[in-house]
Amino acid sequence: MKIDVLLGLQWGDEGKGKIVDVLSPQYDIIARFQGGPNAGHTLIFNKQKYVLHLIPSGIFRDNTINIIGDGVVLDPVIFAEEVEKIELSGSNLKNNLFIGDKTTLILPTHRILDAANENELGKSKIGSTGKGIGPAYTDKIARYALRVGDINSADFKEKYKKLKQRHLNRLKSYDFNFEYEEYEEKWFESIEKLKQFKFINCSRFFNNALNEGKKILAEGAQGTLLDINSGTYPFVTSSTVTTSGVCSGLGIAPNKIGEVYGIFKAYTTRVGSGPFPTELFDDEGKKLQESGQEFGATTGRERRCGWLDMIALKYAIQINGVTQLIMTKVDVLQGFDKFKVSEKYKIQEEVIDYFPYEITDDLEPVFFELPAWEKNLKNIKSKNDFPKELKDYISYIEKETGVQITVVSTGPDRIDTVLIMKK
Ligand code: GDP
Ligand code: IMO
Ligand code: MG
Repeated sequence: MKIDVLLGLQWGDEGKGKIVDVLSPQYDIIARFQGGPNAGHTLIFNKQKYVLHLIPSGIFRDNTINIIGDGVVLDPVIFAEEVEKIELSGSNLKNNLFIGDKTTLILPTHRILDAANENELGKSKIGSTGKGIGPAYTDKIARYALRVGDINSADFKEKYKKLKQRHLNRLKSYDFNFEYEEYEEKWFESIEKLKQFKFINCSRFFNNALNEGKKILAEGAQGTLLDINSGTYPFVTSSTVTTSGVCSGLGIAPNKIGEVYGIFKAYTTRVGSGPFPTELFDDEGKKLQESGQEFGATTGRERRCGWLDMIALKYAIQINGVTQLIMTKVDVLQGFDKFKVSEKYKIQEEVIDYFPYEITDDLEPVFFELPAWEKNLKNIKSKNDFPKELKDYISYIEKETGVQITVVSTGPDRIDTVLIMKK
């Protein structure tokens, strides 16, 4: 058996949560492999909406085991709150949610450092989610982070104090007021909640599961253009969000990767700062934002909107080895007469068709127009019933990328999904 992967091909919020929830009955195990509470994955079914930050999107399926893998950074407070909310609906998560023992802990002072860094950057801030992601991964790479497995050690409190002191020393160099004591109290209460869950050795768990023939889906967070190596650096997150992150984040070998589902919106959005070549600043952008209800699921910020960027999409497909494409939010294009796609960039008089080292202000997308459709997509269950213009859009993307679109999402609910047989 192999591990399938579903990950974002743009700047996040492509609809990963919704589609993982749709696909999860086909899997025994769903695993997050990177990121942390910066993620906001929205699931809608039976008229209920859930937003998950740390818990994998298979959690509402009775027979699915959910894993928070080693590559994740975990804030116990956010974890405990999320568990509590889900348990209100009657579930008990202790038997179907496990945590990698090498998962990094986000401390209260990581959140303060995140805010202090952003404050210092001023106008050039990254626009982080403020959840302490960058500082927690910084500590991991610097080799003094605390991990979930440390919680059970006798000197856990000592280790915590030592790391907190490092942070407080660092904070002295900032002109930034802060207080963390109230959060710290909640943090230690939440550690007790966390301790009730089973901690696992990820590598052993996943390799055994594969040997037993279990079906596993790795659920990405963020999107490829936010990846620490391949994204629009420095306006990125601090983890490897691409397929290679599945190997390091879950402790499995590259030859254990199976299908790679790459998910993208029929247009593009971005939340936070950083370059966005196809961004719209006009009424069409506003219309995408309103029709698509483009507000961040974690921070509530308005998402910036623009047209589909074919160069960026092809770049992301290549990096991840995408084998199947999933296109979401096609219903949002319905109210437009025409919509646009960019296939090339122009830098002064030069035309390029690759994702450059740096996206500067003089880079302009070269757009072309496509006709939209009038037909409402609600209740459509087969690709055959799609309007011709949508079928043409699908064929165009498949031809350009060389990858088949096997899932089309026509609305936010679990049921608004059209599955297409893989050729
Ligand atoms: P994720 O981070 O990739 O899981 O995506 P988010 O949940 O942050 O953002 C996607 C948003 O679009 C959520 O509000 C979803 O409910 C919504 N959504 C997902 N798929 C569709 C779709 O096909 N059409 C519409 N209109 N909304 C969708
Ligand atoms: P999901 O999983 C969209 C963005 C932030 C900021 C940058 C760095 O829901 O798709 P960080 O807090 O990670 O240091 O912020 O990355 N960002 C996301 N944007 N969706 C996300 O996750 C994101 N997670 C981080 O807005 O620009
Ligand atoms: Mg999101």
